[in-house]
Amino acid sequence: MTTEPRSFFSHTAAISPLPTQSYASEASPALMVRGLGKQYVTPKRRLTVFDGIDLDVQPGELVCLLGPSGCGKSSLLLTIAGLQSADRGDVWVEGQAIRSPHPSIGLMFQEAALLPWLTVQQNIAVGLQLRHMPRLSRPALRSRIDQALLSVGLQDFRYSYPHQLSGGMAQRVAIARTIARQPRLLLMDEPFSALDAITRLEMQQLLLNIIAQQHCAVLLVTHDIDEALLLSDRILLMGRNPGHIYQSWRVTAAQPRLRHTQDLMTLRAEILAALSDVMAEPAAMTV
Ligand SMILES: Nc1ncnc2c1ncn2[C@@H]1O[C@H](COP(=O)(O)OP(=O)(O)OP(=O)(O)O)[C@@H](O)[C@H]1O
Ligand SMILES: [Mg+2]
Repeated sequence: MTTEPRSFFSHTAAISPLPTQSYASEASPALMVRGLGKQYVTPKRRLTVFDGIDLDVQPGELVCLLGPSGCGKSSLLLTIAGLQSADRGDVWVEGQAIRSPHPSIGLMFQEAALLPWLTVQQNIAVGLQLRHMPRLSRPALRSRIDQALLSVGLQDFRYSYPHQLSGGMAQRVAIARTIARQPRLLLMDEPFSALDAITRLEMQQLLLNIIAQQHCAVLLVTHDIDEALLLSDRILLMGRNPGHIYQSWRVTAAQPRLRHTQDLMTLRAEILAALSDVMAEPAAMTV
């Protein structure tokens, strides 16, 4: 726990936009987002899915993004990852403007999405050989795969096929595939929500270990307030119509957070109250 119980969590003031396009310096956040907005235009509708998003994630920091279904969390992650274009605003990762997939960003989803005809180590290798990745020599490739397997505890399963793995093991391979690329920013969209409660706890601990080892930044979408309380350095609550950052809290309780202390319970109640305010907002606005 913290030595100053009263400062256990705190509201974070809105982040003001930066005046310049370039900000690279040693103190740069791992991720910086300013004024990000996105519209989906289909023949039937034009939807402003999110707008005016400002957020920072520091190296070694884990930020959880909570919010009602459909508020635009996945859309925001895909846009930050450079997998779809923004209509407004900018994304920088370690000082570099992001407009397309970048080697310093790793992305993980609820499903492991392993290629069933490839072994565990081949699945990891595929992630290292994507078009936008720097080319690696064979020894370097081998060493990246070995390290990633060791980090997730699957050294003995390198020649296994996906159908020979449990759900938790498959998700470990997905983590290994992502961290083998040595990303500076991990974007995770409900990565543990398909797992049983015990496996989820193991995976959450594994993630904290990886952040401690690699000092990467993590932005993780979850529906689970308890997961956010267990893992986060900061929690962002997203509102809708269009998606925006409604409120944020800093969580300073020491890890490991093995049980809910009174402070965490107080914070939980506050987040639930804010979530019910957000739910009272009207649903998605279309034109
Ligand atoms: N490619 C797309 N084209 C058009 N509309 C889209 C597209 N992707 C998402 N949407 C719409 O954008 C809105 C937000 O979707 P998104 O998947 O980002 O929400 P979410 O917050 O991740 O929801 P959930 O918590 O259920 O995963 C929804 O109304 C959805 O229908
Ligand atoms: Mg989603």
